[in-house]
Amino acid sequence: MDVLVAGGSGFIGQSLCRVLLERGHAVTVASRTPDAAGLPAAVDTVAVDVTVPGLDDVIDGHDAVVNLIALPSHVQPRGQRHEAVHFDGTRHLVAASERAGIDRFVQLSGLGVESGVETAYFRAKRRAERVVRESELAWVIYRPSVVFGDGCAFIPFVEQLALPLVTPLPGGDQTWLQPIWVEDLAPLLADGLEDDRHVGQCYEIGGPERLTLAETVQRIRGGGVVVAIPMGLAAVAAMVVDPLPWIPFGRDQYRVLGLDNTTADNDVTAFGVSPDSLRTLSASLADDHR
Ligand SMILES: NC(=O)c1ccc[n+]([C@@H]2O[C@H](COP(=O)([O-])OP(=O)(O)OC[C@H]3O[C@@H](n4cnc5c(N)ncnc54)[C@H](OP(=O)(O)O)[C@@H]3O)[C@@H](O)[C@H]2O)c1
Repeated sequence: MDVLVAGGSGFIGQSLCRVLLERGHAVTVASRTPDAAGLPAAVDTVAVDVTVPGLDDVIDGHDAVVNLIALPSHVQPRGQRHEAVHFDGTRHLVAASERAGIDRFVQLSGLGVESGVETAYFRAKRRAERVVRESELAWVIYRPSVVFGDGCAFIPFVEQLALPLVTPLPGGDQTWLQPIWVEDLAPLLADGLEDDRHVGQCYEIGGPERLTLAETVQRIRGGGVVVAIPMGLAAVAAMVVDPLPWIPFGRDQYRVLGLDNTTADNDVTAFGVSPDSLRTLSASLADDHR
């Protein structure tokens, strides 16, 4: 298969490209500034901004498209850009894929898009999913919980939150995560391209353990004390710092506090994978510290 991986130069994309090459596929990565240095030598690259319509030249000639384009939810909390990158970007990729008669379209969404928590990120991701579902393409949608591994944004973000001795954390014991290792996720995405049984499915995916944000912080820091901050205080703080783009906390981050970003029915089983066989965040961190 000739696969175009939009956003393939990012964190999940780099793992997926390696898996696709190992399985004998041809891979082209599309992003605004794809850096060939971070990608296997066999990968082709094409520079494109998906917020601009008319992606036919980029898509033509491929059999399948994977959409991994992202604006990190915690880095850019302003609604306008999430809409442009996640929603408009998906619209443009889907339209060009339909015109090109693409055989398979894989969309990365996220757990929590239908949780009722309204953030610019979730809203744009939900609208993007709808575009994919209503298309004439043979699509597969994945909604992973938070993804960890080499080059992820999640662990540095948590490290940034943590203070040396005591970490004050609003909603620390009310926010639930189910971290999945990127090297466990990437083969599932490749399966979605290859196996017709996955067409028309939306998979909710997580790792082997459910952790509160407080437990996650403690694992990443290797201990330490986490003190719960009253949500009312956090709400006021969010309003005050929301206009300050350099502070990674605002109204949308406040809304995510308390989110249950886990799945009771882990759809990794649809790929013949047992949740217990997946790598835990704790095991990964222990290896990193060795
Ligand atoms: N990482 C997680 O924990 C997680 C959890 C749930 C869902 N997801 C979803 O999984 C997907 C991949 O996430 P990731 O963590 O791998 O993201 P990432 O590391 O931030 O990579 C994003 C990719 O998108 C490209 N990109 C951004 N804006 C673009 C634009 N306007 N036009 C073209 N390319 C653009 C970036 O390259 P350039 O900068 O060169 O453009 C990069 O290749 C996303 O849909 C994300 O929402 C991720």
